[in-house]
Amino acid sequence: MVMDSAALRDLEDARGAHNYHPLPVVVATAEGAWVTDVEGKRYLDFLSAYSALNFGHRHPRLVAAALAQLDRVTLTSRAVHVDQMGPFCEELADLLELDRVLPMNSGAEAVETAIKTARAWGYRVKGVPPGQAKILVAHGNFHGRPTSIISFSDDPVARNDFDPFTGGFEAVTFGDLDSLTAALADPNVVGFLVEPIQGEAGVVVPPVGYLSGAAAACRDAGVLFIADEVQSGLGRTGSTLTCDWEGVTPDMVILGKALGGGILPVSAVVSRDEVLGVLRPGEHGSTFGGNPLALAIAREVIAMLGTGEYQQRSRELGVHMLARLNREAPTTVELVRGRGLWAGVVVKDDYAPVRPRCLQALDRGLIIKETHETTLRLAPPLMIDEADLDRGIDIVLEVLA
Ligand SMILES: Cc1ncc(COP(=O)(O)O)c(C=O)c1O
Repeated sequence: MVMDSAALRDLEDARGAHNYHPLPVVVATAEGAWVTDVEGKRYLDFLSAYSALNFGHRHPRLVAAALAQLDRVTLTSRAVHVDQMGPFCEELADLLELDRVLPMNSGAEAVETAIKTARAWGYRVKGVPPGQAKILVAHGNFHGRPTSIISFSDDPVARNDFDPFTGGFEAVTFGDLDSLTAALADPNVVGFLVEPIQGEAGVVVPPVGYLSGAAAACRDAGVLFIADEVQSGLGRTGSTLTCDWEGVTPDMVILGKALGGGILPVSAVVSRDEVLGVLRPGEHGSTFGGNPLALAIAREVIAMLGTGEYQQRSRELGVHMLARLNREAPTTVELVRGRGLWAGVVVKDDYAPVRPRCLQALDRGLIIKETHETTLRLAPPLMIDEADLDRGIDIVLEVLA
């Protein structure tokens, strides 16, 4: 029996957990910047799975890399070596000008990996007394959903009824160097974990000089500067990392989403010898982390980023997108912020919530999603052509009017 969209949504509603509030569209196929629903209606994808689809849906180079690896070997676990591992680590470390790589699967797992590594570095290298390691985070952060990570979220929806929480974290004000410097006075601080641009918070861009200032303050205090580039990295903001905009090489970089080419979950922590080198056999791992199928796809992603072509597209088309949004924004809009092909369009309080406008956009064939009540987050795939980009922007402006 072929089920239509309504029947499939009802089934999911009846038998799936209600931990998401999806747009009412049931995607059946996708290619490039477009998806097609069960009834054959096409939609332009301006969400890109929260930047996991930076290269669009089913990019031919990435599909070819996956298919070639499917014919070789797909999973071994790390109990043995596999021929993709060494080259993957070298290529990713070289792309970011760092030394070592630890692959995982989801972004949240890579964040957990960075937290554990920073603590172990604190005890074994910095000499923090047992049990005292502290990690600084920023207010408004989003780093994933596991219990340790929501322990330092300040979003009540993410936390309510999921306590007790994990200790050892302290929040500072995002974008405020004074707040960070004051917190760095504690000698037991081992790391500062921060999104260079806060994605889930609504594409919140810190003041110019914040990232370089924060990295320098951490260096002076003997604290690891840990950039969570899961959403902001890999071309999204017009450079390989968002930290590149300020010439900052973090002590640890956390990657996910687009590293898997929109095909598989692939995440990683990339760091210096002195930091990632603290981990010993048996202390951390994941059955699927570093599986050869994932690594084959990620290596193709790294090769595609190696030319700079996607970063340049994002930079150039991003200037166009942000200029149009700023110039043509209707009076409902409070402000537009962003970098590269990534924008947060914030509506005035009187026009919140923005979700009905996402539904209007869906009717017109555009997928956009709200973050919190007042912000539309736009993240078209970086391979989008200019005509499609303009088509999507036109619809955004229409539904906001
Ligand atoms: C900055 C950041 N870190 C971590 C995560 C968690 O990634 P995942 O959903 O793959 O666990 C996200 C997800 O949106 C994110 O935006």
